[in-house]
Amino acid sequence: MNDIDLKRREVLIAAGAAAGAAALPMKASAQAPIIIKFSHVVAVDTPKGKGAEKFKELAEKRLPGKVKVEVYPNSTLYKDGEELEALSLGSVQLLAPSLAKFGPLGAREFEVFDLPYMFDDSAELHKVTEGPAGKALFKKLESKGITGLAYWDNGFKIMTSNKPMKTPADMRGQKIRIQSSAVLSAQMKALGALPQSMAFSEVYQAMQTGVVDGGENTPSNVYTQKMHEVQKHATMTGHGYIGYAVITNKKFWDGLPADIRTGLEAAMAEATKYANQIAQAENDDALAKIKASGKTAIYTPTPEERAAWKKALVKVHTEMESRIGKDTLQAVYKETGFKPD
Ligand code: LMR
Repeated sequence: MNDIDLKRREVLIAAGAAAGAAALPMKASAQAPIIIKFSHVVAVDTPKGKGAEKFKELAEKRLPGKVKVEVYPNSTLYKDGEELEALSLGSVQLLAPSLAKFGPLGAREFEVFDLPYMFDDSAELHKVTEGPAGKALFKKLESKGITGLAYWDNGFKIMTSNKPMKTPADMRGQKIRIQSSAVLSAQMKALGALPQSMAFSEVYQAMQTGVVDGGENTPSNVYTQKMHEVQKHATMTGHGYIGYAVITNKKFWDGLPADIRTGLEAAMAEATKYANQIAQAENDDALAKIKASGKTAIYTPTPEERAAWKKALVKVHTEMESRIGKDTLQAVYKETGFKPD
């Protein structure tokens, strides 16, 4: 993002805070259901895509004629870098950005989820998202006019590239697309790679045209965006995690009639359970399909190679401590039992 874009975003966010009234819901009536636009950047056939559809189904079933949920997948309404402004302005009511995308909003603490090898498995991750640390992170969004509603899973990342990658040394000099997170940038630099932050909607083309050599993502995102068709290699590094915070405009949410808010909360709780239940299977299935396509060679590092990836990357924890904040870091370590050294 250049300086002009940054300035534009600041102005829009300030305008959004001032124009809270625009985000207030219309009174529900038989003629005019409350329209809830839910925008996201991934395909329908992903954990988040299916979670959003499930929320629509459940919310409309619980509140017939009172709400209408419109889901806009695949960046069809807003792209990364646009959607948070749109939420602030009241042009959209629900988003589920990846936890790696809250830094530009000033909520740098969320980048704790990007730290390499922070979570051994999703059970450890859930201790954070479903415990006090997850709640404390949501609290930090309130001053930005945002209410956090739920954490949704995707899964662990693989590295993909047009060049083979067995050990961290193979990453040297490679241009790798990252999400807009300073932790992910530090992570790629620790490998000697050249991080390129870009919107999710632009990744396929950047890979196809050689603007980047590779990226890091979940099998589900790789497969549904057809990245495997333009990436010759994938390595099962499992070095980091992608998940989401489902968020809404605080003024919009607080201004809803109580019965509607309660109904939507119940629908969200159920949709969350569903999304988190299917996430692992969606990723396993996508990985199997990538393998079956024969277009991407999948490499699983040996235990020694895996240790080398971890050794090269864990230093990012200490490097990023002041950005994330000691309190947040310690609160997450307490749940995961992770020790950087
Ligand atoms: C990415 O930009 O790679 C992911 O955050 C996309 C997503 O929402 O899963």
